[in-house]
Amino acid sequence: MKKTTAAITAVGGYVPEYRLTNKELESMVDTNDEWIKTRTGIEERRILKGEGLGSSDMAVPAVLELCEKRGISPLEIDCLICATVTPDLVFPATANIICDKVGAANAFSFDVGAACSGFLFALTSGAALIESGRYKKIVIVGVDKMSSIIDYSDRSTCIIFGDGAGAVLLEANDEGNGLLDSILKSDGNGRQYLHMKAGGSVLPSTVETVLAKQHYVYQEGKAVFKFAVTGMADVSFDLMQRNNLTADDIAWLVPHQANLRIIDATASRMGLPKEKVMINIQKYGNTTAGTIPLCLWEWQNQLKKGDNIILSAFGGGFTWGATLVKWAYDSK
Ligand SMILES: CC(C)(COP(=O)(O)OP(=O)(O)OC[C@H]1O[C@@H](n2cnc3c(N)ncnc32)[C@H](O)[C@@H]1OP(=O)(O)O)[C@@H](O)C(=O)NCCC(=O)NCCS
Repeated sequence: MKKTTAAITAVGGYVPEYRLTNKELESMVDTNDEWIKTRTGIEERRILKGEGLGSSDMAVPAVLELCEKRGISPLEIDCLICATVTPDLVFPATANIICDKVGAANAFSFDVGAACSGFLFALTSGAALIESGRYKKIVIVGVDKMSSIIDYSDRSTCIIFGDGAGAVLLEANDEGNGLLDSILKSDGNGRQYLHMKAGGSVLPSTVETVLAKQHYVYQEGKAVFKFAVTGMADVSFDLMQRNNLTADDIAWLVPHQANLRIIDATASRMGLPKEKVMINIQKYGNTTAGTIPLCLWEWQNQLKKGDNIILSAFGGGFTWGATLVKWAYDSK
């Protein structure tokens, strides 16, 4: 019997209007456009402005867009998985809130917390639910409002992160297209280099934690860079080898957009020319769980049925991984 695979059948995305440029950051912290561009590749990032708006408010238009594209009602969604480190609330899950807002009344839903690898972890989990044969339509959301946990007086982090959301629909495929393989990894020892100190059960929020600025991203950039550069490149290369793929067989690399130098190192390890690498870090910075689906959203019209695509990420945890997708449809 032919194995059922889970294929991406529609993509949606959303980025907020407001552009925080390198120039504007120059007026906020001691930095400059040239440094940011050469060290990270970032020129601007989007910021969600507005009282009372959270991650779900970016995810909603992304999910509605993919429903419209696929011609389905949100009522047909069986399950929605949201990858995020900036949930609307500590609980309930942002996935529950998104379902409520889009009217996905028949879906069960939950969040996945795997930082910048969250979308890949959620995608692989959703694919397994499709492969089980028990569910037909699963939406995977990657969203982060990083501006809600960034200290805009810390030049080492505020230049990197931005806000945005992407979402894909997974459905069963019997043509052998879709998610074919994944290598996913985590190492909790890496938490020392990238985390948020307060607001969890170890250090609940108090006046003191706020005054000590412990509700912001803490990052040891150099250490994270070192692990990311080898982790993302190794896992992407291993996935190629394991599936007997050469650089010629791969149509696209969709890398997590954390730093252009990490992306270049991964592409170079895989032997891929720049033309095959999706890069939009200059426009959006690092949107954490949003980067990979936002790339798919931007490039969707160039993707062809049968294209071999490798999605690759590294992030807090540490978490990292790569997923091989054979694209399932030609866009109209
Ligand atoms: C954060 C990051 C961009 C910093 O780049 P870097 O090349 O490692 O820079 P360093 O931290 O070594 O700093 C180099 C110098 O630039 C300075 N600097 C740091 N940030 C600066 C900024 N925004 N503007 C200007 N100068 C800056 C430092 O103070 C340091 O100066 P010094 O040499 O006089 O001490 C880089 O380490 C990185 O991208 N790390 C990975 C981040 C990541 O992927 N995070 C998400 C996980 S998915």
